Amino acid sequence: MKLQGKVAVVTGSARGIGCAIAEAMAREGALVVITDRDIDEANRTAARIGTSAIAIGADVSKPEEIEALFEQTTSRLGKVDILVNNAGIGVARLVVDIALDEWERIIRINLTGAFLCSQQAARRMIAQGHGGKIINIVSLSGQKGGVGRSAYGASKAGLEVLNKIMAVEFADSGITVNAIAPGPIMTETGKAMHTQETVDAYHRLIPQRRYGEPAEIASAAVFLASDDASYITGHTLNVDGGFLAAGLMFPFDPSKDKPIGATGQ
Ligand SMILES: NC(=O)c1ccc[n+]([C@@H]2O[C@H](COP(=O)([O-])OP(=O)(O)OC[C@H]3O[C@@H](n4cnc5c(N)ncnc54)[C@H](O)[C@@H]3O)[C@@H](O)[C@H]2O)c1
Repeated sequence: MKLQGKVAVVTGSARGIGCAIAEAMAREGALVVITDRDIDEANRTAARIGTSAIAIGADVSKPEEIEALFEQTTSRLGKVDILVNNAGIGVARLVVDIALDEWERIIRINLTGAFLCSQQAARRMIAQGHGGKIINIVSLSGQKGGVGRSAYGASKAGLEVLNKIMAVEFADSGITVNAIAPGPIMTETGKAMHTQETVDAYHRLIPQRRYGEPAEIASAAVFLASDDASYITGHTLNVDGGFLAAGLMFPFDPSKDKPIGATGQ
């Protein structure tokens, strides 16, 4: 029970990676706010988790809904100790093709939404006076120049530097700020962005030769939210099967055993 008695707000947690993070934090003793723009799915997820979860609808592209989310969290649960900025959207679109409104929508949700949630959470954590944990879900697309990752990659790179800036600004208040960069995960966003060609390319480029699972991101989030990570701040933890580390690689030889943990996807 690494998070006993903590209140955690996980944005975009009705499904996918956010849902896995919320479930894992609840298992570790946290009271979890399942918040999402899809309130019906959020209600179902909170009901499945049980008494350690509540659902609050909020669209992170709307500042007034974000403020209401944190007001409701503190009035219903008394405080906020952990924020996970997970809500995000993506499209695969070339720089020469992407329309301005699409660019702005992605930046508004992935970057501005995370900034506004962090601002609301940090103000409350500072006033509470006993620190806190902020975790930003970024992406390999913000670290490498992937084809079609135009607005999506730029939004995640922006969030990764904001992660460092917040870590420095909030350190005196006992708030740690860290990011997790997942490799590819076959969620709804994954399905929307990954053609078969993309899946095949990832299998060639990732040393572990497989997609990750939402639970593998969730265990990293629990670690960063726990006291085990008390001296870690401003860091990005890649949970990516070695994708960022990879340099020279040779084609996978199917006659050899699959790497440990391979799912065969
Ligand atoms: N799946 C991947 O391969 C992958 C890789 C790296 C990073 N990520 C990041 O992980 C995070 C979660 O993605 P996922 O793969 O679980 O996607 P998903 O589509 O399964 O889940 C995203 C959730 O966010 C919610 N959401 C979207 N826009 C919102 C908004 N404006 N306000 C509130 N909620 C909103 C959706 O309703 C959904 O429940 C995202 O930030 C994504 O960029 C995903």
